[in-house]
Order: sequence, then structure tokens, then C-alpha cells
Amino acid sequence: MKVCVLPGDGIGPEIVGQAVRVIEALRRDGIKLEMETALLGGCAVDAAGEPYPEATRKLARAADAVLLGAVGGPQYDTLPREQRPERGLLGIRKDLGLFANLRPAVLYPELANASSLKPEVVAGLDILIVRELTGDIYFGEPRGIEMRNGANGKERVGINTMIYSESEIRRIARVAFEAARKRNRRLCSVDKMNVLECTQLWRDVVTDEAKHYPDVELSHMLVDNAAMQLVRNPKQFDVMVTGNMFGDILSDEASMLTGSIGMLPSASLDEKGKGLYEPIHGSAPDIAGKGVANPLATILSAAMMLRYTFGLEAAAARIEGAVKKVLAQGLRTGDIFEPGTQKVGTREMGDAVIAAL
Ligand code: IPM
Ligand code: MG
Repeated sequence: MKVCVLPGDGIGPEIVGQAVRVIEALRRDGIKLEMETALLGGCAVDAAGEPYPEATRKLARAADAVLLGAVGGPQYDTLPREQRPERGLLGIRKDLGLFANLRPAVLYPELANASSLKPEVVAGLDILIVRELTGDIYFGEPRGIEMRNGANGKERVGINTMIYSESEIRRIARVAFEAARKRNRRLCSVDKMNVLECTQLWRDVVTDEAKHYPDVELSHMLVDNAAMQLVRNPKQFDVMVTGNMFGDILSDEASMLTGSIGMLPSASLDEKGKGLYEPIHGSAPDIAGKGVANPLATILSAAMMLRYTFGLEAAAARIEGAVKKVLAQGLRTGDIFEPGTQKVGTREMGDAVIAAL
């Protein structure tokens, strides 16, 4: 059981450090993961001149799973696009064929007040967003900025291409239907078919795939309406499935329903169950190195790794149970702090989770 650990940039090393300690604490139960660390993102650009260097590629390909912190930082914003940290992240997703991104948004009862929505709107919230991760406008060609002749003479135009093949849509739809089957059997597919042909195909293929899942109730929603419904009545959703771009946006929105983006883990899976596990939040350069970042999303990502790639359901549930326990004890990092609770730093939060295991 080999794990490639990629701390990345910003708060990445701090939060991944705590997740690694939690995994190590499971050793006494006979769970032995072999962990090896490599560089991805800005730190890789600094050390090796590229965001997804060959050494990292080798390790990531050979591993059964990848545990990632976050990449990026303002110091890299002026680099050419191929050298930006985000390219490293997109590169490893594509390289490993991680097309299925699972982003659960679950509200812990203790955090109902941390949400910007009224507690009664979010109480009991449990949504799974299934985001396609290796296609769409993120990877479509042609792309770029070039000179073109227009009504005003020659000028620059920016180009990206939204593109999905039927097989790409079908395989992510299957993942979503299967996930819905294990939950409340309701799937909402999100598109923009009133304007975009690409997503008309999306709707047609998802509808067709539904034939194989008569036990799952399929609905469709336009993305603008979905964005609105998520804040109006989020509990109407069970599983949502959508493309790369819409999924990026809707999953950030859904995260805030739960109080903090610092709480949410994610899994990105290939066709065989190999996965990359990462918190859905970014590298938070403003608080990097201060020991105050919330490590829970990364710790919960490690739990997802044990469940999905290694089939260690009991160990995964134990980590999740430990996280619930520390929240019930009233421990909070700054992002989820409210009066009456106890503010702790990154490492103390890790300590508390390990103690609760
Ligand atoms: C995410 C992030 C990435 C994305 C960025 C950092 C490239 O926002 O994982 O949601 O857009 O996919
Ligand atoms: Mg995002």
C-alpha cells in the first residue's frame, strides 16, 4: 500500500503533516501505508523548474494513492502559464486519468452556526458533488490568446474550447449513478443545455445512461438555477453530477453551506480506484506558515483514501468519528471558531484527532 505524499505550497505542508501523523497513528492497528514525499506545484517550480517534475510523475504513477495538500501562491502568478503551480495539479489529474472527482458537502451539527445560511436551511445537509475532472473547457483545444482580424482591425482574442465526448460523459454519469445508489438514490445532472450544445449532449447521454439505473431518480437542472437552488434549499439535493467547470464553481459554493471550505475533503478517482485525495480548499498563502490552518479537510481526505483506494472502511470511519469527536469537544481552528468554543492551531487539532482515535 504505497502513498505518494505531495504537500505542495502555502498551508499544504502544515495540513498534510497532520494527516500523515493521523495515518501513522493507525500503525498500531496494523495499518501500514508506505509514504513517500515529492514536489508538486510552486515548490516544484522552485526546485526543479516545472510544476509536475519527472520524479514526481514516477512516484505518483507507481503509488496506489496520492495525498495532496494544495498548490499555488501569489509569487507564481506572473510565471508563464505552463509553469504555474495549477498546471501541476491539472497535469497530475490528467496524467493519472483521475476523471471522477467526488466532493461531499456534509454539515457537522456542531458547525451549523458557522454557515452563512440560517441553521434550519443547512441542518442535516449531506450532498455529494460528482465533478468530471479531466475534460471540458479546462483541457479543450484550441486554446490560447492570439491576434485575429475583427471589425476593429487586428486585435487579441482569448480562446478556450468546451468539449465533451460521449464516452467521457457516460463514464462520469455511471460513477454518479453508482454513488446515488449507495445514498438516497436521487441524482441531479447540471448543465446549460439552453445555450451550449456541448451540454445538450451531456443531458442526452446522462438521460440515456439512466436506463441502466431505474432505481435512481434522475433530474436535470440548468447551472444558473442550480447555483441559486444551492443557497435557497440545498437539502433538495442528494448527488449532483456536472462537468469540470460547473463542478469547480458549484463545489466551492456548496462548501460554504457547511460553514467552512476548510472542512471538505475530496477524492479524484481513475477507472480502477486509484485516487488522488485532497482538501477542496487552496493553499491560503495569507495564513501559510502560521500554524493556524484547519487540517480537518486533509485528515478527512486521508479517510477517503483509506475507504476508496484501500478498502479500509473501518479505519476511515474511525478517522471520521475522531473528527466528529473533536468538534463535539468544542475545538475549533480560526475558520470555524465562534464564541464559546476553544480556538486551537493546526498541530493541536492534529493532536486532538489522534487522541480521539
Ligand atoms: C479545485 C481548484 C483547481 C481547479 C485549481 C487550483 C486549478 O480550484 O481543485 O477546485 O480549478 O480545479
Ligand atoms: Mg476550485
